[in-house]
Amino acid sequence: MFKEMKQLIENVKQYAMGYESQKRYKHSVRVAKMARKIAKKYSIDADKAYLAGISHDLCKEMSSEAIKNFAKADGLPITAIEEKKPSLLHGRAAAIVVQKFFHIEDFDIIEAIRYHTFGKANMSTLAKIVYISDKIEPKRPQVNKAYYKKLNAMDLDEMALTIVQESIVYLQNKHKNVSDSTLEFLESLKKDTGTDSDKGKLDEQRQIS
Ligand SMILES: [Fe+2]
Ligand SMILES: [Fe+2]
Repeated sequence: MFKEMKQLIENVKQYAMGYESQKRYKHSVRVAKMARKIAKKYSIDADKAYLAGISHDLCKEMSSEAIKNFAKADGLPITAIEEKKPSLLHGRAAAIVVQKFFHIEDFDIIEAIRYHTFGKANMSTLAKIVYISDKIEPKRPQVNKAYYKKLNAMDLDEMALTIVQESIVYLQNKHKNVSDSTLEFLESLKKDTGTDSDKGKLDEQRQIS
């Protein structure tokens, strides 16, 4: 690892320890490690994956006001779901924090951090890896040996598709809205994996949400 990258990761870790509970920080480390592991499997820059993983929840425990203030600097519209629950903007906020305070400009890292909560259509491989890692780090409740075995038999897009579908089912069971960005991510993954035969499903899901 380059010295600069090592130092950058160390600096972000210090910041994370200052703004995250110990529990959240440990989760972030597990996500970073998982992202690094998957990145190696797909010949993606493992240090970048670790950096995006350690950064993804930097703002999760900040006040709603702080989260909103950081997030709106990206110039993207704030959706109704985000307006209702500003903590959902914590990925967008963290993407701003790493640019502003750590001068990280790498497009894939920014994208991975920004969209780790909802996902987005046609994300980079790195962003998919971080999205996946956040949902399947070893302390997640659904995770066990059989679950990993099932996922390990899949390629990256199939894995992402499975995880998005699981998170949509989870939200629907809790009668929570599914964001358009997540549904668009789902559709793009279906196309990429050649499983987009059930065209009517998106409209169906939009109606439920
Ligand atoms: Fe998060
Ligand atoms: Fe997370």
